[in-house]
Amino acid sequence: MKSLSLLLLCILLCASTFVHAVNINTPISIKTDPDMDYPETIVTSPNPEFEQLEEMALGLFSFCDRYNRDGTEKNTKNVAFFNETLTLLKQKSDNLQWRQDIDAILLGKEMNEKYTNAVKKPVVLIPGITASGLVAKFDIASNWFKIWANMWDIVCQDSLFKNFEPSFDPNTKKFKNAEGINILPHDFGGVEGVDYIDQTFKLFTNVFGKMINYFTGLGYKSHQIRGAPYDWRLPIQSLFDNGWMSKFQQLIEDTYTNNGNQRVVLISHSMGGLVTTAFLNTMTEAWRDQYIDTFVPMSAPWSGAPKSIENVVSGESMGWGIIPKWRLRNFARTSGGVIQLIPNDYVYDQNKIVVVGPGNERFSVSNITTLFSRVDPIAGAIHEFVKHPAIRTPENKPLVNTLCIYTTGVDTVSAFDYSMGYDRSPRQYMNAKKGDGTVPFESLASCNSWSSSDKHRLVKKEFSGVEHAAILKEAKVFEYIVKNVLKQ
Ligand SMILES: *[C@@H]1O[C@H](CO)[C@@H](O)[C@H](O)[C@H]1NC(C)=O
Ligand SMILES: *[C@@H]1O[C@H](CO)[C@@H](O)[C@H](O)[C@H]1NC(C)=O
Repeated sequence: MKSLSLLLLCILLCASTFVHAVNINTPISIKTDPDMDYPETIVTSPNPEFEQLEEMALGLFSFCDRYNRDGTEKNTKNVAFFNETLTLLKQKSDNLQWRQDIDAILLGKEMNEKYTNAVKKPVVLIPGITASGLVAKFDIASNWFKIWANMWDIVCQDSLFKNFEPSFDPNTKKFKNAEGINILPHDFGGVEGVDYIDQTFKLFTNVFGKMINYFTGLGYKSHQIRGAPYDWRLPIQSLFDNGWMSKFQQLIEDTYTNNGNQRVVLISHSMGGLVTTAFLNTMTEAWRDQYIDTFVPMSAPWSGAPKSIENVVSGESMGWGIIPKWRLRNFARTSGGVIQLIPNDYVYDQNKIVVVGPGNERFSVSNITTLFSRVDPIAGAIHEFVKHPAIRTPENKPLVNTLCIYTTGVDTVSAFDYSMGYDRSPRQYMNAKKGDGTVPFESLASCNSWSSSDKHRLVKKEFSGVEHAAILKEAKVFEYIVKNVLKQ
């Protein structure tokens, strides 16, 4: 079935939910750590109304597909018709979104009663790659505008990626913005940078939006639920260098103070879990004890995800070509954020083959830099820089109370066959039902290798039958968090 995931954000480990929930009819049993609660299978029912609107959006965006595969421009299409369809789509999708918002709030209310007034521990939300809103300003202009994301610009405007691609200097190991432009997280500390990727198309771009509505139903007010959007184009190291990590620390401290010195719950999705772990590892034990109640990483790719290899090597627009693949590929090759998600040897065997190239040449986790350097020396240099994160402690775990949640039971790509050439779409090797459709099971489940200490509780929870981004819409997952973290 068609999916808008194809459209954009899936250069990526997108937290956007163009991705529709997958229907898994047969429950899957997975062998798990004996400590872990028995995995819970979630069966999602199809939503024909959503699917119809998704189709409509796809049709609409194909209208502005002014580009041929080689990047040359086609004739402009019928603009008036486009505008009319856009208005209709907006009305219909806002309407469905509105009903979903109400449902999430009511559900939160119900849960608040069920768990007799869940304690409102303050919460900070940390999104995954592509899922933070970013604003930009040209040096010559005075106003900031939302550069990430505005679907129309992404799909239709050639200039977006030109302004959006960072550049990397292999000597200084620094990333720079394109000449003449500043880029910052949108609404840091508020929730507008972490709720929907595109506020105009909320229905298709949920990040923490649904969860925030649910928390509103639980009785949360704005000082109790905060957002920590970050410049996900950059690798974690650069978030230390550019001062973001200090702002993150300050946000947590302020949230603690503004809530009567209550310790804070950190809830992350996908790459946000790696960012948060790196942060926690650099703080002192005294700081962590004072400020952090619990860390809830959802769907973190602890050891990377092979999917990101395709982003860099051949580009990925998932068969649709609405955004030319070369454009996404060029972006991925400049992005330390994307490249740091290449599988690493934290969990994977370093000799695990992830790419088979022309002439049966093989690349494993240990020599993927060689492959990247061949397709693009800068991508190789970035990979060299990000593959050994400087901030790993010997333990390399969060060092606070942790509730590690992930989903599995979905077919997930594990390696690529590029024997037809690196500029061609590869054949994919799939891991049947082992992973969340984006991140393989081994990488998600590696928190199973951590153990509780006398001091810190570690709880692991696996759900089955839900995709990587769809976890952020699952009521059962929200309830699990309420039951295990927010209720005392
Ligand atoms: C679409 O309609 C809006 C007003 O409804 C107008 O401002 C805009 O210029 C139109 N866009 C195009 C591309 O014609
Ligand atoms: C990459 O490393 C693997 C073993 O980890 C080896 O089999 C393979 O030949 C190496 N490939 C290249 C191109 O060096």
